[in-house]
Parts: sequence; structure tokens; C-alpha cells
Amino acid sequence: MAEEKTYSMIKPDGVRNGHIGEIVNRFERAGLKIERMELGMVTMEQAKANYAEHEGKPFYDGLISYITSGPVVKMVISGAGAVAKCRSLMGATNPAEAAPGTIRGDFGLIMDENVIHGSDSVESAEREIKIFFN
Ligand code: RTP
Ligand code: MG
Repeated sequence: MAEEKTYSMIKPDGVRNGHIGEIVNRFERAGLKIERMELGMVTMEQAKANYAEHEGKPFYDGLISYITSGPVVKMVISGAGAVAKCRSLMGATNPAEAAPGTIRGDFGLIMDENVIHGSDSVESAEREIKIFFN
């Protein structure tokens, strides 16, 4: 399995509900390495760049206003197969369908506030790391 970097972000509900420590712990316990980590707001520009693929969809405006609504934790995470490993620890996009034991399954209830973001490919990760850490 190739050494990879991925971008992950604890969303405003995850921060507000006090799950930062538990989520970071799950990544570290799985053997992944936290390379960079920063608490702060997502700018409107960063939100639009990160979710460009969803522009025009019915949930787009809500998604942008939600992700800019409060502090998030921005992370670069590395390890063998880090992109897929993070997505597997996160669980299904909709917390209602996410398995117990996954981050979204354990800490989320609704699609609009699903606790965490993780890049969906190595290419997305490279793009997203540039958006949030440059
Ligand atoms: P993310 O990008 O946030 O890590 O989530 P994801 O890859 O699992 O899901 P994605 O398809 O990229 O969707 C981005 C975010 O938009 C919201 N969403 N709502 N109502 C809907 O049908 C719908 N679909 C997506 C979710 O909050 C999702 O995380
Ligand atoms: Mg996505």
C-alpha cells in the first residue's frame, strides 16, 4: 500500500460538540500520522474551492454556509493508504446510514451536519491540502 497524504477536517458540529480529541485519537490509534493540524474558520473562498464539484446542487448553498459557520480542525494526515483508511474510519456520508464504530455513525445524526470531511482520492487530497495549507 502506497504512502499517501490526505486532507481531513472536523466540521463545525464536531468541534462544537467537543469531539476533537476522540476523532484525532481514532486516526492515531489506526496508525495514521497527523502531519499538520490547525483550528480556525474556513473562508468563503476556501469553502467554494473545496466544494466546487457540488456547485449548482440543491444542497450547495446550505453546505457552504454550514462549513463557514464556526471553527473547524484542518488536518493533513499521512500513512499507507491514508485516503481510503480515513474514509473508512469516517463511515458513510449520511450519519443515519453510517455504521456504529465509525466517526459519523457514532457522533452524527443528519446529512447536513456529518462531523467530518475526508478527501475522496489522492488527487483531491493534493488539491485540498493546497486550499487549506497555503
Ligand atoms: P465530504 O466531502 O464532506 O467529506 O463528504 P463526502 O465526500 O462523504 O460527500 P460528498 O458527496 O462530497 O458531499 C459533500 C457534503 O455535502 C453534503 N451533502 N448533502 N442532501 C444531500 O443529498 C447531500 N449530499 C451531500 C454532506 O454534508 C456531504 O458531507
Ligand atoms: Mg466529498
